[in-house]
Amino acid sequence: MAAIVEELITIKPKPRDGWDVERIRKDFPVLRQTVNDKPLVYLDNAASSQVPMMVIERGAQYIEQEHSNIHRGVHYLSMKATTAYEGAREKVKRFINAREAKECIFVRGATEGINLVMHGYGRKFIGPGDEIVISAMEHHANIVPWQMLCEEKGAKLRVIPMNDAGELLMDEYDALLNEKTRFVAVAHVSNALGTINPVKEIIERAHKYGVPILIDGAQQAPHGTIDVQDLDCDFYTFSGHKMFAPTGSGVVYGKARLLEQMNPFQGGGDMIKSVTFEKTIYADLPNKFEAGTPAIASQIGLGAAIDYLNIIGREKAAAYEHELLRYATERLSAIEGVRIIGTAREKLSVLSFTIENVHPHDIGTILDQQGIAIRAGHHCAQPVMQRLKIPATARASFAFYNTKAEVDVLADAIEKVIEVFS
Ligand code: ALA
Repeated sequence: MAAIVEELITIKPKPRDGWDVERIRKDFPVLRQTVNDKPLVYLDNAASSQVPMMVIERGAQYIEQEHSNIHRGVHYLSMKATTAYEGAREKVKRFINAREAKECIFVRGATEGINLVMHGYGRKFIGPGDEIVISAMEHHANIVPWQMLCEEKGAKLRVIPMNDAGELLMDEYDALLNEKTRFVAVAHVSNALGTINPVKEIIERAHKYGVPILIDGAQQAPHGTIDVQDLDCDFYTFSGHKMFAPTGSGVVYGKARLLEQMNPFQGGGDMIKSVTFEKTIYADLPNKFEAGTPAIASQIGLGAAIDYLNIIGREKAAAYEHELLRYATERLSAIEGVRIIGTAREKLSVLSFTIENVHPHDIGTILDQQGIAIRAGHHCAQPVMQRLKIPATARASFAFYNTKAEVDVLADAIEKVIEVFS
């Protein structure tokens, strides 16, 4: 434990003053490059965000100087690695205000987090005739696992509808909840539309029926604050690669009481207390859910990304991004032929749009020629496209290192796309 405390105090976050975006950009080496002879304009942050030098260096330090397996060794390097890995878990605990670090399970990303809950909780506690409620704006990661469970158990998937702006219809949600409801799983923020859902309200209403609820926080974690105790959610999951950490890192939080009742997700080393051919006794939390050697460097990187967010100031970053989204919405809305998809009152970071008579894939390809990275397609949310009766969208998604000048480059490039196709 003393060693863990040592890891925690090695980095003393000193929040930076003001918002100096040019200084922030210097922290991200990837942003310095040119693409197709144009300065890179990276607007695909909802898919994967970029990694600051501080996080790269922390991962590299583990690989260069501490590389070894965790929990198993009594030797120096293993203890260093264990300290750093468990130190990252402590940082996650504070990042989401969990009661205990053991409630924060390391996973490869939000997809694995949802699958862990589906297998560990769903397969144990959900049966024939039971109902699972999700929403119309879920990412496939928060649809397919529940569909698989319904197929296996003879349970039924119910879907909270949304309006044309991309806002959930809360009265319809109320109407879906009943004594058959056994689980609710909803996105905090829609990856395709940017809608911020009223998750506190959604959680409260599920709890009135005694129903546990999982929040997919993949798009919230990089852009806002999370307080799992205040939300009172039962499970909350997010991915490191969308929040300035390496791929392969992520977290699923669960209330200890629920995690303790659940089946393990995977079997193997490190998740056991004892094994005989007759019986295995599982390890306590969090190890029960972390079979095999985890992504040690990536999770240590996630801890460093949390340090980084604390240093730059999460609330200041969110306020800056909010202004950027407002500006981008204004600029794109003013272009004839552009239609913004997702006009909820509460939004963050994501600006989906279509251009009359131009397929989003063509938009993406032409923008790439200008060095602009956006995502085009269904964004792993095909039911959103079906609901809005469109095949796909182009999506610009922002982070605190983007600039208004980059929004201008995007807007000018969109005007050129329209010119080419007219
Ligand atoms: N879920 C990621 C996205 O929205 C990949 O683009």
